[in-house]
Amino acid sequence: MKILGILASPREEKSNTSYLLKKILSSAEKEGCHTQYIELCSLKIEFCRYCEFCHKNIMVCPIKDDAFPLLDKILKNDAIVFASSVYVNHITGYLKTFLDRSSILFTASGF
Ligand SMILES: Cc1cc2nc3c(=O)[nH]c(=O)nc-3n(C[C@H](O)[C@H](O)[C@H](O)COP(=O)(O)O)c2cc1C
Repeated sequence: MKILGILASPREEKSNTSYLLKKILSSAEKEGCHTQYIELCSLKIEFCRYCEFCHKNIMVCPIKDDAFPLLDKILKNDAIVFASSVYVNHITGYLKTFLDRSSILFTASGF
């Protein structure tokens, strides 16, 4: 089983969330899973601009940054662990910005 862990804290090595995510991934490795760890803060992901291109074209976004390669990676894994710090009772802006860009997956699945 392939598991992708996505960290949505900007604090990298100092992050409590990163510590917990790495614990989850190392436990999964011990159970025989193949895991990968990615930090959203190291990627260039722009805001969704509501151009609606992805609503009309399957799996296409006109913004050429790191969002599409990450969405493509998500499709190639069996499970995803999103790990976000709590900022003002919500996920961090890093994760919300990425999730806004994930609309192309819903279009692809016929949503
Ligand atoms: C802008 C900001 C807003 C926060 N809002 C909350 C909150 O609403 N509730 C909470 O319990 N902690 C809040 N925190 C504290 C963080 O969630 C906490 O320090 C967490 O461990 C940070 O995660 P990290 O170590 O992975 O970066 C906030 C921290 C920051 C910087």
